[in-house]
Amino acid sequence: MSLYNIFDAHAHYDDARFSDDLPELLTALPAKGVVGVISCGVNTETSQFAAHLAATYDYIYAAAGFHPLNLADVPENPTEILRELLKNPKTVAVGEIGLDYYYEKATRDAQLRLFEQQLQVANELSLPVIVHDREAHEDTLRLLKQYKPRGVVHCFSGSVEMAKEVLKLGMYIGLGGAVTFKNAVKPVEVAKIVPQDRLLVETDAPYMTPVPFRGKRCDSGHIAYTAARLSEIRGEDTQALLDYTAENARRLFGINM
Ligand code: NI
Repeated sequence: MSLYNIFDAHAHYDDARFSDDLPELLTALPAKGVVGVISCGVNTETSQFAAHLAATYDYIYAAAGFHPLNLADVPENPTEILRELLKNPKTVAVGEIGLDYYYEKATRDAQLRLFEQQLQVANELSLPVIVHDREAHEDTLRLLKQYKPRGVVHCFSGSVEMAKEVLKLGMYIGLGGAVTFKNAVKPVEVAKIVPQDRLLVETDAPYMTPVPFRGKRCDSGHIAYTAARLSEIRGEDTQALLDYTAENARRLFGINM
């Protein structure tokens, strides 16, 4: 497989699972066809680390944000810290932010407040958002309709109906390894209806490793398998899909190459 123009719109290269071989891995990715990666933060430290990676590797860009499953890490003044983090020239988005009622239903109110604060900062600075929504579709859609940010709903797990609502708002849909899973239903249905100019491909590395590597650590090189499955579902050419999703990512995140 000699695919190129792979733009991974969502990864977490701060993860401890990369700590043994990160420089080797990131140095090798361009030879595997990777031309862009957004490494997302989930708290202050990981957002700073993503910015550090972006400063070190030309093809890496950073996102800064406070993830709903990391509430314990949220400082007293999250919007102030977020604005500071976003001053980095290669920090191109607010993320990963959102709602997760699958793991943390009890903290719903705190999650909602934090998500709203970060949506406000993103709008204020005209930056796109990278949204996490797990089992929180209704509240996520409500806030997206209210704030109308630019951005992407990553690892999209909602219904086709919700996808249509998100698209109507002008947002992008991010799809990753889940489309390759045998039990995948919703993401496969959603993959069929997203227009070419609104689709992003992503890994969520080190998580969501596509078949046939499920269970192993995921990196941006694995997108080739996700893209192959996506293009099969959509009846398209795999390289063509990588070409237009890379163009979409550059447009959304304001990256000129
Ligand atoms: Ni993520």
